[in-house]
Amino acid sequence: MKVLLIGSGGREHAIAWKISRSNRLSGLYIAPGNPGTGQLGTNLPDIDVLDPAAVVECCRKYRINLALVGPEAPLAAGVSDALREAGIPVIGPGSAAARLESSKTFSKQFMERHHIPTARACTVHSGQELDRELARRSLPTVLKMDGLAAGKGVLEARTLDEAREFGLHALRSGSVVIEDFLTGYEVSVFVLLDRNGYRVLPACADYKKAGERSTGPNTGGMGAVCPVPWLPDDMLATIEETIVQPSIRGLDSDELRYTGVLYIGLMITDDGPKVLEYNVRFGDPETQVLLPLIRADILDLCDAMINGRIRDAFLEIDDRVSVGVVVASAGYPIDHRTGYPIQIHETEAHPVTPDTIEQLLFHGGTRTDGDNHLLTDGGRCMTCVARGRNIIEARAAAYQVAEAVDFEGAWFRGDIGSRVFGE
Ligand code: AMP
Ligand code: GLY
Repeated sequence: MKVLLIGSGGREHAIAWKISRSNRLSGLYIAPGNPGTGQLGTNLPDIDVLDPAAVVECCRKYRINLALVGPEAPLAAGVSDALREAGIPVIGPGSAAARLESSKTFSKQFMERHHIPTARACTVHSGQELDRELARRSLPTVLKMDGLAAGKGVLEARTLDEAREFGLHALRSGSVVIEDFLTGYEVSVFVLLDRNGYRVLPACADYKKAGERSTGPNTGGMGAVCPVPWLPDDMLATIEETIVQPSIRGLDSDELRYTGVLYIGLMITDDGPKVLEYNVRFGDPETQVLLPLIRADILDLCDAMINGRIRDAFLEIDDRVSVGVVVASAGYPIDHRTGYPIQIHETEAHPVTPDTIEQLLFHGGTRTDGDNHLLTDGGRCMTCVARGRNIIEARAAAYQVAEAVDFEGAWFRGDIGSRVFGE
């Protein structure tokens, strides 16, 4: 099978790593790719992945049998629609279903129409409506920009002034959703979806805030854990029944059902799980911790999805725990500079149980210069992952890798996975 993978983040490096282990693989191309994916296949840095015609042409040129779209922007731009029309099998929804992610207003209306448990919300279109709505709400309240914003289009407002400032700014690019602030803890649930069935993958926890103990601004994600040891045993079944199934029925009745990944961001509240957001692709950094636990061949799973057989596909899950720590550039997520040389120091095998622990290093925002030196090239530069028998082992080994990544201004959250210690 010849595969084209679209994207250039840590998620795509993890997907490329998993694909590269498939014995069905006969060629792997990544557009545009990063230095990590370049070690596993052929990067195509010059393809404009937001141009559906260019992606179709690329697939024809390299005789691609399967395309996987990692990030949301090409999906929203209609890349999957064009590939499907050209007869190229693709994992990822068309632009109509991608609106579940690319428009907060559309997605909130979808949840309301299909009675999916979520925060109570309303949509405002002008400064006047914003002021009227804010005046009758209690704080904190949550404001969401309508369009794609790489995890940075949401504010949990604690004062009226900051709510108003963010709201007015967000209104410049479209409508704004204002919703009740939910308390609880978050989990991300990924569903492999095809035209006939679905499979729910183990839950992940994503650490979205920049600061420790979940303080500071939202980021794309600073670390992840899979599965989530603090999720009660029966919670995934409850989520499947109260959220996943009604969501898929909603997709069916709106004629939006697709072949791809449905990502459900959830808050587990005292009142049960509630949807914070839908995405229509794998998460980053959740994928970096999730895929190392999937024993099945990812190309078998993709093939099953393309043929509408995911319901019966072999999907064995490793019983270990996986922890990922993102190493970021100074100033991320507010602003950051790039181009600093990266050094990866050797890590010693974990002294306690070298046989059960595996460490993986996934590139995100990195690039190489003309002399093949590795440089920083984004906010979230590397995801340092380790699998271990339990979260304590995995966490220690993941931090060992994070310590080994060295560039000017490098930082990471020190509390990924620490909830298990009662924090
Ligand atoms: P979203 O892009 O909608 O998932 O929002 C990004 C992040 O903002 C979420 O992962 C939560 O941490 C936070 N958030 C979003 N909506 C709410 C809400 N209604 N209550 C509390 N936190 C929220
Ligand atoms: N980890 C959050 C996201 O992928 O959107």
